[in-house]
Amino acid sequence: MATKLKAGIIGLGILGRQYIDLFTRHAAVEVAAVCDVRRAVADEAAAAINAAAYDNAHAMLTEQTLDLAVIATPDHLHVAPSLAAIEAGVPAVIQEKPLATTLADAETLYNAVEQRGTRFFINYANRAMPLDLAAYYVVQQGLIGKPVYAECRLDDNISVPTGLWGERSAEFSAGSSTAHFLLSHVVDLMHWLFAPARVVEVFAIRQDVVLGHTPDLYDAYLLFDSGLKVRCKAEWIRYMDEIVEFYTSISGERGTLIYNKRPGFGTRESWRANFGDAAAGMDLQRHLDALGSQGVYLRAARHYRPQSGGYYAPSVALSLEHDGPDGATGMMLVEPMLDAILGDTLQPSSWVDRGPLPTHVDGLRQVRVVHAIEESAKSGQPVAVSA
Ligand SMILES: NC(=O)c1ccc[n+]([C@@H]2O[C@H](COP(=O)([O-])OP(=O)(O)OC[C@H]3O[C@@H](n4cnc5c(N)ncnc54)[C@H](O)[C@@H]3O)[C@@H](O)[C@H]2O)c1
Repeated sequence: MATKLKAGIIGLGILGRQYIDLFTRHAAVEVAAVCDVRRAVADEAAAAINAAAYDNAHAMLTEQTLDLAVIATPDHLHVAPSLAAIEAGVPAVIQEKPLATTLADAETLYNAVEQRGTRFFINYANRAMPLDLAAYYVVQQGLIGKPVYAECRLDDNISVPTGLWGERSAEFSAGSSTAHFLLSHVVDLMHWLFAPARVVEVFAIRQDVVLGHTPDLYDAYLLFDSGLKVRCKAEWIRYMDEIVEFYTSISGERGTLIYNKRPGFGTRESWRANFGDAAAGMDLQRHLDALGSQGVYLRAARHYRPQSGGYYAPSVALSLEHDGPDGATGMMLVEPMLDAILGDTLQPSSWVDRGPLPTHVDGLRQVRVVHAIEESAKSGQPVAVSA
């Protein structure tokens, strides 16, 4: 491999431009070529960084010998360029989520990666965000006990499916849905947080009242093989202040974790794990130090709650807390992926104690669950998810 990774980026919209920004600031990566079906977009991006411009992914992959291809096309248009990169023998691919929008496409990509031995990563970006890393730590360390119920709501402003991609918005959102665009993130996040538990059954509804060109929302219950139940919901019809709202709560047998990662009206960015009486003897400082070593900074607090009015409240609740912006970006997972590619490993030193980096294996698992969500919403029946 050359001293610098020679990268080609396919799809130069919102995310593609973020990859260009990250790679041009990275000492070990060179953006050799960029590609977009909109020729003027490709020319402009290429001129700014002195790269070769293409409007055809096959041409780029044939003419350039790349170490890394990035696929950042719209959700329903991942499979052709990803497959082309794999078949052209590019050794490493970073693809945007979801792996695909149909089960057949996901299986085709999965099989191609297995056959060619491509190092294939998917940017399920939440896995690298500070508040999700804190949640991963608390759940995986067993600090709230066995997780038994969780709720996750990830909603976009209605302006996303109607205007985020300009005149291409209807086409983008019709080719996708809140299940592919939003629940792909949630399903991966839940699989990662609760590993090794896996979703085995799904029951879901969808609504088609407001938008017409794409479902308004999906609302799904995921049943895990551990007995855990997770409700996850994603809307595209909300008139709200923010572009996105992201709320998660997890109830364990001995504690509760609540976080507003992307807050909306009446809430603020916040994260708290309450351990109740189970906190007695817990070495909170050790956990704060462990999280701090991953760049996740929380504080511990002790809450005294007077019991009044005849209802039960624990007199002491210890919590790990966080207030204020966590500095998360959608590119945080890409740096450890580059380290993994540069070091030819799945577990680079920049990614320890956080589970594996997400690959085609996670991608297929995510698509199987989203496919079951779609099927259940269609049939009105629970749908089993294969292993
Ligand atoms: N990981 C995250 O946190 C995150 C966040 C937002 C979006 N995404 C994902 O990133 C992907 C891109 O989203 P976006 O908002 O940047 O979309 P976008 O529409 O802004 O950009 C996509 C670009 O791909 C181009 N394109 C389409 N087909 C092509 C082809 N065959 N070859 C080359 N170029 C092609 C389009 O012209 C467009 O410029 C989506 O899959 C989306 O779900 C991920």
